[in-house]
Formats: sequence, structure tokens, C-alpha cells
Amino acid sequence: MSNAKLSLLYSQERITAEVSRLAQEINRDYTGCEILVVGILKGSFLFIADLVRQLTEPVTIDFMRLASYGTETQSSGIVELRKDIELPVQGKDLLIIEDIVDSGLTLDTLYAKLMLKNPRSLKICTLIEKTCHREGSTKPDYVGISMESGFIVGYGLDFNEQYRQLPDIYLLD
Ligand code: IMP
Ligand code: MG
Repeated sequence: MSNAKLSLLYSQERITAEVSRLAQEINRDYTGCEILVVGILKGSFLFIADLVRQLTEPVTIDFMRLASYGTETQSSGIVELRKDIELPVQGKDLLIIEDIVDSGLTLDTLYAKLMLKNPRSLKICTLIEKTCHREGSTKPDYVGISMESGFIVGYGLDFNEQYRQLPDIYLLD
């Protein structure tokens, strides 16, 4: 473990409340639809697990994995696809589940790749959105928490693959 300093930013209770609110909005908007949940690994694994357990419509689940190069806390904008979706997408109602949208460049890449496969609809749900260095043009439809800047870890989010298991979200100094 590194000696980085962590300070509590969003508690388990806050996260749980936001996840429930998002699930309610999604349930309301997708009444009568079958949702194809596309979880973006690895950061969103806990969020996906908590969110899908509160969805009331029929759901199928698949995963994609993207990686953006850059420094440890800042994206370069070059996004590589490490694992593609496996379920058929054409004609389906897709819901992308992301952990965090920062520059938005990952989201742009993801959106463009999935739109090529002709889904019936494509929406994006992110637990966290950072507003200070947005470059991409794709906007999330469902946002849990909006924050301005800072690098955060916990609840799936990592720094050098550490801290994903923490139940709360912390600001990394
Ligand atoms: P974007 O392409 O700049 O929007 O970056 C998106 C990806 O960068 C996220 O899916 C995360 O994997 C990672 N990321 C961005 N900000 C943070 C952070 O504060 N903590 C941990 N990972 C982050
Ligand atoms: Mg991610």
C-alpha cells in the first residue's frame, strides 16, 4: 500500500441513497422495457451490483472494459477497448453504467462504438460526474453525484489498482 492520504468524501449512506434514487428514476423511465445493462469495468463493479438489485424491469447484463492512458490521475484522451460487449445489441434498450465521467472522452468512445451496433436506445448512468475538465460531448442521462474536481477512490474506484474495495468514497491527497 502507498502512503497516500485519504479523506472521507461520500459515505456509504450517501452512496446508498444516490443509488436508490437513480434506480427509481430508471425504473420509472424504463417501465415495460427490457434493459440491457452495459457495465464498464472495472471501476463500476460495485455500483452495477448495487444498482441492478434495485431494478424492477427485466434486465440482461454484459460488460465492456476500456482503458485510457495517461498519468496516474489524468487521462490522455487515448481510449483503448480491452473487452467488447458479447450480447447482441441491435434493437435493444442499452443502459451504460459508469463509475465516473471526468474528461468525458471514454464516454464519447463508448457511445460511438455502441451506436454503430444499432441499439433501439442508448442511455448513460454514472455514479459520479466531474465538471471541471469536460472535453467530450456525450452527456450522462443519470448522474448520482456531481463534483467539481479532485481525484477520488473507493467503492470500485482505484488509484494504481488500490482502494477499490473501500465501502465509502475518499478524496486522495
Ligand atoms: P474520462 O475519459 O476522462 O472521462 O475518464 C474516465 C475514466 O478515468 C473513469 O472511468 C475512471 O476509470 C478514471 N477516473 C477519472 N477520474 C477518476 C477518479 O477521480 N478516481 C478514479 N478513477 C478516475
Ligand atoms: Mg471507468
